[in-house]
Amino acid sequence: MKYFLDSAKLDEIDQAYNSFGIDGITTNPRHIMLSGKPFMTAITDIAAWVRQQGLEGIERFPVSVEIDPYLEETEAMVEAARRIAAISPNFAIKIPCIPSGIAASRRLEAEGIRTNVTLVFSPAQALFAARNGALFVSPFIGWKEANGEDTRQYIQDIVDIYMNYGYYGKTQIICAAIRTGRQMVDCAVAGADIVTAGLEVYKDAMMHPYTRQGMDVFRNAWDHTAK
Ligand code: E4P
Repeated sequence: MKYFLDSAKLDEIDQAYNSFGIDGITTNPRHIMLSGKPFMTAITDIAAWVRQQGLEGIERFPVSVEIDPYLEETEAMVEAARRIAAISPNFAIKIPCIPSGIAASRRLEAEGIRTNVTLVFSPAQALFAARNGALFVSPFIGWKEANGEDTRQYIQDIVDIYMNYGYYGKTQIICAAIRTGRQMVDCAVAGADIVTAGLEVYKDAMMHPYTRQGMDVFRNAWDHTAK
C-alpha cells in the first residue's frame, strides 16, 4: 500500500519524502491555505520540488490538486482542470463527486488529464468514479468516523466492488483524511491502494511506547566494554 502526504507545505513534503519515503502528495484548498501561499504559488512550488527530486511523471509521484470548489458546471470544471494540469505532468486534478464533476472527470480522462474524484462518502459514489475512468477515488475515512459512521465495511465494500467489476488497480483507492495508525491498518487489510495522511499521523503511527521502553531495557543491559 502506498503512502501519500496530505499537505501543501514544502517543509513537510521534504521531511516526509526523506524520512518515510512517501509515494505522492494530496492537497485540498484547506492545505493550500495552511501553506500560507496563494494557490498558484503553492502548486507551482510543489511542481518545482517534484522536478528538483527527479520525480517527474504521474506514475512516479502523483500530486493531487483540487479545482476551485465554487465551480458547479462541467465546462467550467474542465477548463479549470486543464489550466492546473498544464503546470505539471505529475498533477491529478481533484474533482468533487457530484454529477457535473463525474461528467468533468470522464471528459478530462478522455483527453489524457488524470483525475481524482474526491469527497466520496459512499460505495455508490466510488462506483461512479470508477465507471467513468478516474485514475483515483478518494473515500474520506476520518470525516465519516468523526460522524460516528462505520468505515471498515465502507472501505471493504469499495475494494470488493472494484474487484467484482475489474476496476481494482485501474481506479486507485486513496483512503483520505486518515487520522490514526489503526485506520491505516484497516485500509491495508481491506486492500486499499493508498492512504493519505498528515505528517503527524505518520509519525504517531510509526511509534509504539513499547519500542522506547524496550530500548531502555536493552540500554540498561548493554555491555559497555563492547567495541
Ligand atoms: C484528501 O485527499 C483530502 O485532502 C484530505 O484527506 C481531506 O481531509 P482533511 O484535510 O480533513 O485531512
